[in-house]
Amino acid sequence: MATVIAASAKKLAVEGGAPVRTRPWPSWPDPTEAEWKEVVEPALREVYLSGTEGLPCPQSERFGQALADYCGASYGLLMPHGTDAIKAAVAGALDLDGFQDGGNILLPNYTFVASASAPLDVNCSVTFVDIDPKTYTMSVEAAEAAIRPDTTAILPVHLAGHPADMDGLNALARKHGLKVIEDCAQAHGAEVNGRKVGSLGDAGAFSFQSSKNLTSGEGGAVTTNDLDTHHRVISFSNVGRIPGGARWEYHRLGWNYRPSEYLAALLLTRLPRLEEQTQRRNRNARCLTERLNEIEGIAPPVHAPWATMHGYHLYLMRYDPAAFGGRSRAEFLKALDAEGIPCTPGYTLPLSEQAGMLRMREVYPDRVRVEPCPNVESAAESCVWLYQNQLLGDEGDMDDIVEAITKIQHAFRR
Ligand SMILES: Cc1ncc(COP(=O)(O)O)c(C=O)c1O
Repeated sequence: MATVIAASAKKLAVEGGAPVRTRPWPSWPDPTEAEWKEVVEPALREVYLSGTEGLPCPQSERFGQALADYCGASYGLLMPHGTDAIKAAVAGALDLDGFQDGGNILLPNYTFVASASAPLDVNCSVTFVDIDPKTYTMSVEAAEAAIRPDTTAILPVHLAGHPADMDGLNALARKHGLKVIEDCAQAHGAEVNGRKVGSLGDAGAFSFQSSKNLTSGEGGAVTTNDLDTHHRVISFSNVGRIPGGARWEYHRLGWNYRPSEYLAALLLTRLPRLEEQTQRRNRNARCLTERLNEIEGIAPPVHAPWATMHGYHLYLMRYDPAAFGGRSRAEFLKALDAEGIPCTPGYTLPLSEQAGMLRMREVYPDRVRVEPCPNVESAAESCVWLYQNQLLGDEGDMDDIVEAITKIQHAFRR
């Protein structure tokens, strides 16, 4: 505590003072020579020497099943990107060929573009709905209010790693005969009442893009408990072939979303570490939240009662300028970054207000609907995001974050 008070009286780094932190943060991904030699090199070598770098994709099959087992789902399939995975999951769950009208899909308006562009790309229309202001995930009430006769599915996003209210959303889906496709891109390992995301809806879509908590640089996967959905996903992603079918037979319209075997081999080496890393992020986040709760004007993330495990892809907090001498979020972010704490405002607009979506709404007004989203607007204006790798260190790293914020508050209030 003494160091916090001492540092808070110092000149801000953004004004030329010494930054709170100059040490590097844990890198992401986190390569080591030892891991390369003992685990990664032999795995990649095995693919190389096998002469099987693609079809019939034995390593990819192994990884798909390993991911499914990890999530408690029955089936899993690896793909080149998370965006592909959402497309295939939507098409698989709704049994679409990608050209017929797939109906309308409800999704939260505080998310990455792919949550909307993927369903649009398989000829669904979308409705953007509001989020819960505390968990930043889809509001069950807002989703219910947005249901129309053409609604076919709900696409909750487990944003920043906090799982959406899957019990509430699944109950809503059952009541209205809708499918549920989980966007798990930011929530590897997160749990709802002890069950992992990716096993909780009709299908789940993961991303292994380089920032994600499990990564192979690029990559994605679909998980499901339903064999027919799994077979449709396989077919959709393998040019219309069916499992066990002949190589030159195409049973439905399909695309090539097959992964390289090197992706699978790398992911197989990293999956076993995911659980321990998730626990570590949770431990550090708990410690950080406890201390940030004492700082006026910072609202750290909360865990909803159903969130028995947070995925912590991001650490989302809210910033209130009133408690920081009226200084804007942009000024706070600049000062925090200068103190050696990487941070971002994240999504600064509801997705529906991004230029690409405004164009869609103008040119194809029947493809994109927007419900009132006051909670999304507020989150877009006031959130500050920290990155998952910052939670991979130790308590001393959390101290630096607290110290930097305390220092900035002290200076902004002067
Ligand atoms: C919420 C969400 N959905 C989907 C994706 C798309 O994943 P990818 O970048 O692997 O296509 C991402 C990641 O970038 C994401 O954050």
